[in-house]
Amino acid sequence: MRKPIIAGNWKMNKNAAECRELVKELLPKVKDAKCDVVICVPFTDIALAAELTKGSNVKVGAQNIAWADSGAFTGEISAAMLKEAGAEYVIIGHSERRAYFGETDKSVNARLVQAIKCGFKPIVCVGETLDEREGGKTETVCKTQVVGAFDGIDAGAAKDVVIAYEPVWAIGTGKTATDEQANETIGYIRSVVEELYGKTVADAIRIQYGGSMNAKNAAGLMAQPEIDGGLIGGASLKAEDFSIVVAAAK
Ligand code: 13P
Repeated sequence: MRKPIIAGNWKMNKNAAECRELVKELLPKVKDAKCDVVICVPFTDIALAAELTKGSNVKVGAQNIAWADSGAFTGEISAAMLKEAGAEYVIIGHSERRAYFGETDKSVNARLVQAIKCGFKPIVCVGETLDEREGGKTETVCKTQVVGAFDGIDAGAAKDVVIAYEPVWAIGTGKTATDEQANETIGYIRSVVEELYGKTVADAIRIQYGGSMNAKNAAGLMAQPEIDGGLIGGASLKAEDFSIVVAAAK
C-alpha cells in the first residue's frame, strides 16, 4: 500500500508574516492526517516554515534546487543551503519552470540527480499542454519527461521519488482533469516506471495529481486507484481548503 502524499505548492506567494499566519492556522487542522503533508514554500519562507512546523507532521519543501554544489550560478540555490534552511522535499521540473525559465528534461534530470545525492525527497513534475493532449500526444510527452528525468537514476533511489502528473491545461485554470483522465494518465506513467525499473518500483512509487485540485474535487480524485495524492497550488494558500484536501487523502 502506498501512503498518499499531499503537497502544497505556494509558488511565489506569502511573505514571512503571511507564512506564519497560514502555517499556524494549518497545523491543528491537519494534525491527524493519514497522509504525508508537505508545504513547498518560497525560498525566503523555508527557515521560518521549518521552525513553525518543527515537531509536527507537516514537512517543508523548496520549489527548485541547483544541480551544482556551489559556485557561479546567479539566482540558483544549492542543496546545502536548502538543507540548512530546513527543507526536506523539493519540487523539480514544474511546468512553470519549464515554460518560463527554460527548464528542460536534461536540467530536470541534473537537478533530480543532485537532490537524490544530497538526501532530499524530490517531487518531479510532468504533464502535457492542451495542444499536446488534443494532438493525442499526452502519453508520448509524459513518457519523454519521465524517461528524461530519471536518466541514470537507479531503482533504489527511483522508488522514493514522488512524481506529480500535472496537465498544464489544468494548472491555475479551474479546469481539473476528470477523475478518470487523471487516473488513466497516472496509470500510464506507472507503466513507464515499470518499463524502466520493473514492477516492484512501479508498485511502490507515489504519483500525485496536480492541476486545480481543491476542496471540492479532492475526494473524487483521491478515490481513484492510481492517484497517490496531490500537488496543490491555489487551494494550498488557504488553511481551510488545504486541510480538506489533506483529509480526502486516506
Ligand atoms: P493549481 O492547484 O493552482 O492549479 O496549481 C497546481 C500546481 O501547479 C501545483 O504545482
